[in-house]
Amino acid sequence: MSPTSNPKFKNPRARYNFQGRTCSIAGVGSYVPAKVLTNADLEKMVNTTDEWITSRTGIKERHLAAKDEFTSDLGTKAALKAMARAGVVAEQIDLIVVATITPDMPFPSTAALVQRKIGAYRAAAFDLEAACSGFIYALEVAQQFIMSRTYDTVLVIGAEKLSSIVDWEDRNTCVLFGDGAGAAVLRNRANAHGLLTAVMGADGRKADLLFMAAGGSRCPATAESVAGRLHFLRMEGKETFKNAVQAMQTAAVEALRRCEIDISRIKLIIPHQANVRIIHAVAERLGAKPEQLFINLHKFGNTSAASVAIALDEAVQSDRVQPGDLLLLVVFGAGLTWGAAVIEW
Ligand code: ACO
Repeated sequence: MSPTSNPKFKNPRARYNFQGRTCSIAGVGSYVPAKVLTNADLEKMVNTTDEWITSRTGIKERHLAAKDEFTSDLGTKAALKAMARAGVVAEQIDLIVVATITPDMPFPSTAALVQRKIGAYRAAAFDLEAACSGFIYALEVAQQFIMSRTYDTVLVIGAEKLSSIVDWEDRNTCVLFGDGAGAAVLRNRANAHGLLTAVMGADGRKADLLFMAAGGSRCPATAESVAGRLHFLRMEGKETFKNAVQAMQTAAVEALRRCEIDISRIKLIIPHQANVRIIHAVAERLGAKPEQLFINLHKFGNTSAASVAIALDEAVQSDRVQPGDLLLLVVFGAGLTWGAAVIEW
């Protein structure tokens, strides 16, 4: 069936007569570090309880990278799995985009470091920073290169070592985050719709809700910045929560509207895995059924840009996604940023 003639939904790209090519996810992969930190472990570190963390967030445990394991290592491991499943070798990759807020170093990019680790020396490489929304932003960026026939094969990675910027003395935030990576290989596939649409949004007026104050040009590292614990992330949880629910709902509704489908047509909703209460509030507003939701945050916590990437891989590997299914990815993060993507698998 040609991309223009599928009767099940509208592909918003059709209005451009598919002068660009469609873009599909040819393979996905993920990796989380071996070390597990449970809520019981956290009880020994800060004044918290398993009961509080579970009831307020749904998180039971998270994975933490080793001291000598960096974001590029996590991303590389996820990428190699995605490449194997896509049947792609390193020499075929034209571009690597890594979405992260915890690069190995401010520069060079983590994407360049991944390029070296996988030996994809033909590939251009850059990082993209949209916090927890980064993976959808990166998918959309990658898709532009494939649609425009600039590149044939793009490797998109969401990878984070959030444990490196979490203040392990701040119970408000340290219980929420984990480390990990997810990856996808994007290619044009004949007769496949793939990524139908991706909504992206941002509101810089709310940048102060979630940030890391030091380490950039505004506040370079000094003895004072370290003593003031300014190299750790800070968050206004309640306001972030409210904004997350609203923005995710709005983005999801817009993505569905563009494809002229309602929520019942979506086989699986893969939301950003920050808080189970956020996910349920968004699902309720969208009129989604519990069986449409993919939730794995109890195992990994919030892994920011890696979150939906890991969830997508788990959903695919556990056979919750079959060819032809429609998926809705929906995310929210610092910036503020948000996004939603509809994918025909
Ligand atoms: N253990 C025990 N008590 C705690 C803990 C803890 N770990 N953390 C906070 N508390 C206390 C607070 O101090 C507060 O006590 P007080 O009333 O005496 O002041 C009380 O619990 C209630 O705190 P609230 O902030 O009201 O708790 P809330 O129900 O809002 O849950 C949470 C907090 C989990 C942070 C929630 O607001 C949330 O998930 N926010 C959204 C986070 C998010 O989605 N981030 C996404 C973006 S991440 C990115 O882009 C990197």
